[in-house]
Amino acid sequence: MISPEKKMDLLVSLCKRRGFIYPDSEIYGGFANAFDYGPYGVELKNNIRDAWWDMFVRGRGDVIGLDAPIIQNPKMWEASGHLQNFSDPLVDCKRCKRRFRADHLLEAKQAEPGYDKEKPLEIADIKCPECGGELTDIRNFNLLFKTFIGVTEDVSNVAYLRGETAGGMFVAWKNIRDSVRNKLPFGVAQVGKAFRNEITPGNFIFRTREFEQMEIEYFVKPAEAPQAFELWLEGMKKWLSDVLHIKDENLNFHEIPDEERAFYSARTIDVEYRYPFGLKELYGLANRTDYDLGRHQEYSKEDLRWLDPETGEKILPYVIEPSWGLSRTVLVTLLEHLDIDEADTAEGGDKEPRMVLRLPPRLAPVKAAFLPLQKKDELTTIAQELAQSLRSEGINVEYDESGSIGKRYRRQDEVGTPWCFTVDFESLEDKKVTVRDRDAMTQERIAIAEVAGWIKDRLK
Ligand code: GAP
Repeated sequence: MISPEKKMDLLVSLCKRRGFIYPDSEIYGGFANAFDYGPYGVELKNNIRDAWWDMFVRGRGDVIGLDAPIIQNPKMWEASGHLQNFSDPLVDCKRCKRRFRADHLLEAKQAEPGYDKEKPLEIADIKCPECGGELTDIRNFNLLFKTFIGVTEDVSNVAYLRGETAGGMFVAWKNIRDSVRNKLPFGVAQVGKAFRNEITPGNFIFRTREFEQMEIEYFVKPAEAPQAFELWLEGMKKWLSDVLHIKDENLNFHEIPDEERAFYSARTIDVEYRYPFGLKELYGLANRTDYDLGRHQEYSKEDLRWLDPETGEKILPYVIEPSWGLSRTVLVTLLEHLDIDEADTAEGGDKEPRMVLRLPPRLAPVKAAFLPLQKKDELTTIAQELAQSLRSEGINVEYDESGSIGKRYRRQDEVGTPWCFTVDFESLEDKKVTVRDRDAMTQERIAIAEVAGWIKDRLK
């Protein structure tokens, strides 16, 4: 067990040391809250994304994909309300000049032990958490990143980096309706980068200015929206338990009360995770009614209604929007499966603490490692051939001949490799290798000819 206080530090240093996630632009002194996904981080992120796409797009008959640009016609952000409302309330400390999210300060104050929640709370009642100075009034700060298209930087050339992937799917609705889907319900899925000029990024990759989302807009007849919401909630729960293997006790499904919901939302649930820094949002699920299509219809002057072939009636569909942060999923997957237990020392002596990432095999960056017991040609050849045969089937594996076998196991444990195969001198006689299980640390011998099938069976 790792204490919550230590867990973030351990994870951040493991991510850098083992090549999952690095601080960005380090040779230039870094660039705050920007990160590079290193070799193992990219594999993990892509495996999560692919598992999501398999489950929610290819695995169903009613969801199709889209890949829209990051910079689109800026009118869409006016229509969606982002130019007016996509902002965070901000306060500055008059003394130390630090900047804070007013809503976060208010929440923290209300969470203090013994605080009377009925008492009205104003930002003027709160002092700077860093220096105790007085805070300014609240100002709203728009989160969209602005840029310019073309050579002149004037107002007519302003465009925005998308603040969410969702918008592209509403804008493409008419083309999708007219080209490939004319029956409700159906969903459109998109995975990609989103950008927000966050005032308080932080907690590693929890909140950054550039991140990835996986979102679905599920278009339904209005009367069917409540039931579709329930089904998507089930889908999100299944994803968390069956794919990410997140324990129930680490999750909370927070029903947003009427008075706190966006005015257009008929129902919203925030899926929260127990991070080492507190219970905070992981995903969101909303019944957005016909707000988005209604606004785009109004601003584009295009008829975005759907013709019900049964009744001949034209309606604006309602939208159920399950929204997953891909970057946040990477963080939660790493946090959930990072563990320290005990193992024999690398030299085979007494027990020592072992750091291990117990990633579900399907998500693990490396599925198996092939390790010759010694650097002898007859052993290295078998191990290399085995590794290459798996690679040629699209399975990411490693070959490692450097250092003691104990040290090589530790390295693979720390990157979450579920199985290590050791080739020893007996292998030359019995044509078998020893497979060691990352979690149980048990070992068994299996025939070399069966290794590929053995791994593939377990990845299913
Ligand atoms: N289309 C709805 C939407 O974008 P959101 O709650 O603002 O809703 C959805 O974002 C998800 O995107 C969040 O639940 C979170 O997983 C992720 N997310 C949002 N802002 C983020 C940030 N600054 N850094 C990392 N992930 C973020």
